[in-house]
Amino acid sequence: MPGIWYGGDYNPEQWPPDVLAQDDELMRRAGVDTATVGVFAWASLEPEPGRYTFGWLDDALDRLHANGIRVLLATPTASPPPWFGPAHPDALPVGPDGVRLSHGSRDTYCAAAPAYRRAALRIAGRLAVRYAGHPALALWHVHNEYGTVCHCDHAAAAFRTWLRARHHDDLDELNAKWHTAFWSQGYSRWEQVLPPRATQYLPNPAQVLDFRRFWSDQLLAAFTEQRDLLRRHTPDVPVTTNVMLPSDHQTLDLWRWAREVDVVAVDHYLNATGPAGRADLAFGADLTRSFNAGRPWLLMEQATSVIYLYEQGVIAARPPGRMRSDSLGYLARGADSVLFFQWRAGPGGAELHHSAMVPHAGPDTRVFREVTELGADLRRLGELAGSTVRAQVAVLWDVEAWWAVAGRGLPSSRLRYLPALRQVHAALRRAGVVADFAHPEQDLARYRAVFAPSQYLLSDLGTQSLRRYVAGGGRLLLGCFSGVVDQRHLVRRGGWPGGLLDVVGIRVEEHLPLVDGERVALSGGAVGTLWSELLQARGAQVLADYRDGPLAGAPAVTRHAFGAGAAWYVSTVLDDVALAALLGDLLAQAGVQPELPGAGPQLEAVRRHAADGRSWLFVTNHGDTGCELAVRGVDLLTGTRADGVLRLAPGADAVLREDLPTARAAGA
Ligand code: GAL
Repeated sequence: MPGIWYGGDYNPEQWPPDVLAQDDELMRRAGVDTATVGVFAWASLEPEPGRYTFGWLDDALDRLHANGIRVLLATPTASPPPWFGPAHPDALPVGPDGVRLSHGSRDTYCAAAPAYRRAALRIAGRLAVRYAGHPALALWHVHNEYGTVCHCDHAAAAFRTWLRARHHDDLDELNAKWHTAFWSQGYSRWEQVLPPRATQYLPNPAQVLDFRRFWSDQLLAAFTEQRDLLRRHTPDVPVTTNVMLPSDHQTLDLWRWAREVDVVAVDHYLNATGPAGRADLAFGADLTRSFNAGRPWLLMEQATSVIYLYEQGVIAARPPGRMRSDSLGYLARGADSVLFFQWRAGPGGAELHHSAMVPHAGPDTRVFREVTELGADLRRLGELAGSTVRAQVAVLWDVEAWWAVAGRGLPSSRLRYLPALRQVHAALRRAGVVADFAHPEQDLARYRAVFAPSQYLLSDLGTQSLRRYVAGGGRLLLGCFSGVVDQRHLVRRGGWPGGLLDVVGIRVEEHLPLVDGERVALSGGAVGTLWSELLQARGAQVLADYRDGPLAGAPAVTRHAFGAGAAWYVSTVLDDVALAALLGDLLAQAGVQPELPGAGPQLEAVRRHAADGRSWLFVTNHGDTGCELAVRGVDLLTGTRADGVLRLAPGADAVLREDLPTARAAGA
């Protein structure tokens, strides 16, 4: 993938010829070299079953190619046309409450319905035949953000097939693993097993967990059959699908998905304005790089000039300069593209107020000027495409642990997965340390420290892997309410964290969730919220104890040497200051250095490395005052040399091709 790809979703089917002609000129001005075409265009390509209208797409691809623009060609299968539902009513999705949805938005299909899968393959196959060999075709973009969940009878049948494979076609095994003896749920025939549909009271948590695993696999099967079909026609064209980065929920097990795409491509919409948005950016980018096994990845969508604040019902403005700085932020953490939803803002449709590279007000705007400047910046950065980020530490990402802890009937609904991970990731970032994400079952030996903030579910394999990691010299931090259930969602008996008792050198015997407004004081001035635990130290050193409440005097935070490594346990949710102090000690013991020692929390610094030894230092000054960095190299954005000192104004970015691999920083 040469250079940094620049562009976005392009919808020629929505515009008349004079606008398309203007697009050509504006794309040239903006330095756009990449367009994603055809997402959601099914009705424009197949207005009636079996009647195809490819003319507009032929023209678009030819035109883009003539303008030197590569095409990421989408299969339009995320939005079946209006004729689809009436022809196949059984292929429209059904919610847990049994209500079948109608056409009228997008993503309205059941991925387990044979009619949907056939229709999707048919249109994908037509595109493959028609555009195989087209010189503009650079990558297949299958579908868009797989995620629709269905509970219909097709889904139920497919769920049973999946369960039979997973549980050795043995209903007794399923009954045991789901502990169906509780509440008279013992199944005597496979046909009785259903998706977790609306029911009288709490569902069976093991059934819910298996259904979530199944549905991720079901959507993945819908993707891989399109991928395989496309590969048969165009073996040399890479295939991917754009996944949505986790916000408040996550339907896909992205570790499994990442193995099936040629490159991981994500859509990332910041969840906050200001510094919190930038923390979210770093979190999302580090996550995506990790899913792509450290290789450069594709930022397939972001917004140019808005930030969606869903909880407030506000589409906030992204301030001037932020689009550029944030785009550099993604590149710093391993992206090789800056792509947007969307090229041109459309006047109608559900997203009529979404931002674009060419806004409603046209090219004579602040937004389009910034788009043009960003295009010029990215051309100056082409040399770093293909380089990678090297992280010394990892945060564990395990969607099954998330699915389990998000279930109903747990001791607290306030102990949430994503905030726990974000808090640790943000603390590492403030300490100047770049983190990967990793799965508990993978080999973790290359990381100096591993953070497991929320592993309520920890599988047997994950348990063994963490044991090996610490025994072999790793540093592990385990958050509260961890190691409580196994991969079946059955509680581990005998105290927690289950199979890690001797590794952590403690034993938790009781959970004491905190209610709204409740806090616990810890020694050393720390404050715990949301959760507390009664635990005994069994060989572990007590780093902090509870100072008030029913646990006064009992251990709260511990450290235990095990094998050649050590494990920390935190039995509550620490305040940010206390967490930073704990992490600081842990990182020092693990020998982890910040990316730019001495830089301070206002400066964000991340390095990309090429195999030939070259490196590029991305720095952003998030502070209100200027700062000076002791570095040597050339700032690719301005072309200026820094011979020992780089001055960075408040809010400014630099991308330094470094003279020396170990540049050092001095504070402001
Ligand atoms: C993405 C989606 C785009 C567009 C965008 C709006 O999730 O892929 O098609 O809807 O959100 O923010």
